Order: sequence, then C-alpha cells, then structure tokens
Amino acid sequence: METKFILFSGKGGVGKTSMASTTAVHYADQGKKTLIVTTDPAANLSDVFEQEIGHRITAIDGVENLYAMEIDPDKATDEYKERSLAPMRELFDEDLIKVAEEQLSGPCTEEMAAFDKFIDFMDTDEYEVVIFDTAPTGHTIRLLELPVDWSKHIEESAKGSGQTCMGPVALIQDSKKKYDDAIAKLRDSSMTDFVFVMQPEETSLSETMRSSRDLEELGIKTTKVIINGLIPSEEAVVPFFKKKFDKQNVTLEKAQETFKHIKTQTMELFDSELKGVKMFRKSGEKLFQGSDANE
Ligand SMILES: Nc1ncnc2c1ncn2[C@@H]1O[C@H](COP(=O)(O)OP(=O)(O)O)[C@@H](O)[C@H]1O
Ligand SMILES: [Mg+2]
Repeated sequence: METKFILFSGKGGVGKTSMASTTAVHYADQGKKTLIVTTDPAANLSDVFEQEIGHRITAIDGVENLYAMEIDPDKATDEYKERSLAPMRELFDEDLIKVAEEQLSGPCTEEMAAFDKFIDFMDTDEYEVVIFDTAPTGHTIRLLELPVDWSKHIEESAKGSGQTCMGPVALIQDSKKKYDDAIAKLRDSSMTDFVFVMQPEETSLSETMRSSRDLEELGIKTTKVIINGLIPSEEAVVPFFKKKFDKQNVTLEKAQETFKHIKTQTMELFDSELKGVKMFRKSGEKLFQGSDANE
C-alpha cells in the first residue's frame, strides 16, 4: 500500500487546520485509514474535534478510520534524546554519556526532534493517508530545510571532528538516510501533496506566491492552492458585502491565473466557525464537489 502524504501550509489564521481537518474527514469517510498530525506548536486539533488528543495517536469519535495527534515539541525532544542516547549507554561510561547529553541540549536538538517526529510519520505504512497540519509557513519551510542542512552537517562532521550537535557521527549515520528518504518523498509529487491555504486578499496572495517559490527552491512543488473564505454570491446583496465580494473575486481570478498550472480549490465563508465532524462533512462537500471519488 502506498501512503499518500498531504501537507497543509499557509499563514496563521488562513484556515490550514480547517482545510486539513475537512480533508481528513473526507478521506476517512471514503474508508481510507487516515491520520491527521499537527506540527504547529499552537495546535488546536483537540478544539476542532472537540475531544482530548495530545501527544499520542487518538481515534476520533464518530469517524471510523480517522486518527489524530498533536506533536508536543517538549515531549518530542525528550523522546528524541532518549532514542539517541540509548545506543550510547551500552557503549560508553557515564562521563561520556553526560557529554553527549549536553550536546543534545541545544536548539539544534529541538529542531531536529520536531522534524524527527514528523518524518516518523513519513516512514509508516499503517495509514493510507497522512495529513500534516503544519505551523505557519516560515516555520514549516525552516523545518523542511533542516534535513538538507542536517545531511550536509553530518557529511562535514564525518570528515572533520566526527562530532555533531546530535552526538558522534558514527551513531547517527542511519538518521541521515532517514532524512534523505523523507526529503525524497516530499519532493515526489506522486507521493506528497503540498497544499497552500490562502484568503482571497492581495496580501495573502503575495504571501502564498512567495512561500510557494521558497518551497520550490527546496525542490518541493506546490500541488494545490485552496482559496478559503469567499463570501457566497447569494449573500453579496447588500452593498457592503457586494463590494467585498467583488474585491475577493478580483483576487480569486488573479490567484487562479497565477496558479493555473497548479490545482486550485475554493471554499466559501461559513456563518460559523469550522468545528466538529458534522461541520467538516459540510465543508468537505463544498471542497470536494465535482471531484471524483478517489480524489
Ligand atoms: N471557510 C470558513 N468559514 C468560516 N470560518 C472559517 C473558515 N475557515 C476558517 N474559519 C475559522 O477561522 C479561524 C482560523 O482558521 P484555522 O483553520 O484555525 O486557521 P489556521 O490553522 O491557518 O491558523 C477558525 O476559527 C476557523 O473556524
Ligand atoms: Mg491551525
């Protein structure tokens, strides 16, 4: 079974979590075993699914086949440290372990730990669809840059001191392969969809264009753009909303033109928050209308 990975990115507040959750419920309802993971430290999957989730894979009530997890950066760091130290404990005495522990206490470790947890899910074949609700764009691109940096760092350290901020090179060679594999999957559009969510506003459009280019520089192609928050035409009857509606549509056309080689989808603005499985089924009908069942 080939797992499909779908990453949602975009600025804070544009609707990443809403669209990621909508997509997750959609695939689960199609009978696909689906996992939604958030790498956003400001995670709120518990809020939107209205149940306790946290740093463990949790079955979502009322949706067969749907699982969710909120990566807790502190817990991920602890797990990562322990995993890195475990093989050393058998080989070295306490003093050396202490040194290794210290090396594992920098910001580099925290960044790596978050990424490591993230790519753990890229290594699994337990789910048919794995959806990543990521942190706001800058953060995510930094996360995706890491393995490239990291691979280089390991290579250089292997030639030099043999030490990395993650411990001795000899013990982390395996990680390098894991990171290289994950990056290869992220760059392979047949395995990974990279979706940007934006609002129908000029600033949001330019931000999305910029981020999409940044991503392209990492060799990752944008495969879909969702323009979220369009005023429904039947509501654009009073002048205030009509004016806003017209403006949104100018931006929408521009976005569709800009991303004409990329798939675009639209999502209307609802009169309430996107929250709860029932709501995600409603938004899912809109998001996936007209697309075939396997899409
Ligand atoms: N199409 C929509 N209609 C109505 N409310 C929306 C829509 N999309 C998002 N929202 C609301 O906007 C807020 C921000 O959305 P969210 O998905 O959490 O954004 P992000 O994850 O990008 O920060 C939430 O309260 C959400 O319910
Ligand atoms: Mg969010």
